[in-house]
Amino acid sequence: MSKKVRLGIIGLGQQGGAYAKFITDGMVPNMMIGAICDTDPAKKELASSTYPDAPSMTTTSPCSKAATLTPL
Ligand SMILES: NC(=O)c1ccc[n+]([C@@H]2O[C@H](COP(=O)([O-])OP(=O)(O)OC[C@H]3O[C@@H](n4cnc5c(N)ncnc54)[C@H](O)[C@@H]3O)[C@@H](O)[C@H]2O)c1
Repeated sequence: MSKKVRLGIIGLGQQGGAYAKFITDGMVPNMMIGAICDTDPAKKELASSTYPDAPSMTTTSPCSKAATLTPL
């Protein structure tokens, strides 16, 4: 079984949303969403409903909890 890289997405806007979709559409081999964070609580709700398998969080300070790239 190949290892997967978990990508932390900081900011689920135009760019973060596009990359999240690329990953869940299977366009990026061996990558999965590790976590999503955004300062906007509405984006956490969007992340939870659109990408239910990925942990998501709201932060009031720049996403210190999600900026990680970790091989499984
Ligand atoms: N849209 C493009 O075509 C494009 C192309 C290249 C580079 N960029 C760059 O990518 C970055 C994002 O652009 P975008 O178009 O996706 O913006 P956007 O406004 O669509 O999305 C930004 C998201 O990040 C969130 N956010 C802002 N500050 C945050 C913080 N400190 N921690 C966590 N989340 C935070 C916002 O709430 C928002 O959901 C910008 O720096 C932009 O210059 C954008």
